[in-house]
Amino acid sequence: MDNRGVLVTGGTGIVGARLLFDLASRGERVYALKRPQSDIQTVSNVFRFLQDDGQLFERIEWLEGDITEYFSLEDAFQYAKSVIHAAALVSFNRKDRTRIFKVNVKGTENVVNACLKSGVEVLGYVSSTAALGVKKEGDIDEETKWNTDRGASYYSISKHYAEREVWRGHSEGLDIAVVNPCIVVGPGNWNRSSGTLFKKVKEGLNYYTEGSNAFVAVEDVSAILLELLDRKVYGQRYLTIGENMSYKDFLQLVASEMKVNGAKKKAGKNLLKLAWLAESLRSTIMNDESRLTLDSLKSAVLKRSYSNQKITEELGFSFTPIVEAVERTAKYYRD
Ligand SMILES: NC(=O)c1ccc[n+]([C@@H]2O[C@H](COP(=O)([O-])OP(=O)(O)OC[C@H]3O[C@@H](n4cnc5c(N)ncnc54)[C@H](OP(=O)(O)O)[C@@H]3O)[C@@H](O)[C@H]2O)c1
Repeated sequence: MDNRGVLVTGGTGIVGARLLFDLASRGERVYALKRPQSDIQTVSNVFRFLQDDGQLFERIEWLEGDITEYFSLEDAFQYAKSVIHAAALVSFNRKDRTRIFKVNVKGTENVVNACLKSGVEVLGYVSSTAALGVKKEGDIDEETKWNTDRGASYYSISKHYAEREVWRGHSEGLDIAVVNPCIVVGPGNWNRSSGTLFKKVKEGLNYYTEGSNAFVAVEDVSAILLELLDRKVYGQRYLTIGENMSYKDFLQLVASEMKVNGAKKKAGKNLLKLAWLAESLRSTIMNDESRLTLDSLKSAVLKRSYSNQKITEELGFSFTPIVEAVERTAKYYRD
């Protein structure tokens, strides 16, 4: 079929929307998978924020599909020369565990199988630092072995097994480029994924935790994945890490750009445990989702740092300062 192009899964998400924008800007034929209930208005808002007058957004060709439904992918992938898989369920809520594994692991297995079946030539995959093991000391890098010793979240385990599916596809003949972003900073829907950090700060955070993590601008994740695909750098994973930072500093930065007061008090482990118990009780009585989850609390106190040496050395890539990424993202959410 000569109307084949690049097909993006997860195009309505923070990472996927930026990939769609960059691909459309390059004049590629771009297809995006969406579910009947997907909100494509957010994508249009992101495009407008990136100075699109509507012409780029109109170039996106939307195809219906759900990654948990294999045959919907076979139908959509007939239009794909290459696929970029950025769909996932980003959740640290243990109540979501069945869905997390269904979407992230089974969904990725379906994407890989549909690529192999439909003659897709290349798969670009958005993995995560969550798919890697952790270390007590030193920077985590591409070679850090997977381990669950420090209580990996269901999300983390699912991203690890999802990436295994991608490597299985590689061993079955699919060309694969993989990026493993840390926490992504960029415009999108602030009710989900890393967008919730901006919403929580806006609503008022009283406490910060002493943990640390790494942050990256969404445009860097997209640019790196597209460059790896352009250069045909297949069969390897690349950590995409902007800056390592404490949660305290990051949240302070977000608060200052969202023009609200930042959290001033440090939450120690005991206070966090109490907060979690209180929230679990509340969510059980009210029969709704717990806003604080044990996995997110555990993760909030861990100190982690990641290396971007491989990508900076091999691609000579220079990352957007996080202060700039936060400034732009906060402007999007404020306006
Ligand atoms: N954001 C981060 O901090 C971060 C960090 C590291 C890695 N990542 C990875 O980056 C990727 C994108 O994350 P994100 O932050 O952009 O997430 P997001 O904003 O929550 O978007 C998730 C996307 O996945 C789609 N999706 C979910 N379930 C689906 C299904 N069953 N079938 C088809 N599409 C489905 C959603 O579509 P609907 O609109 O239909 O729901 C949406 O487009 C994920 O693989 C995530 O693990 C993200």
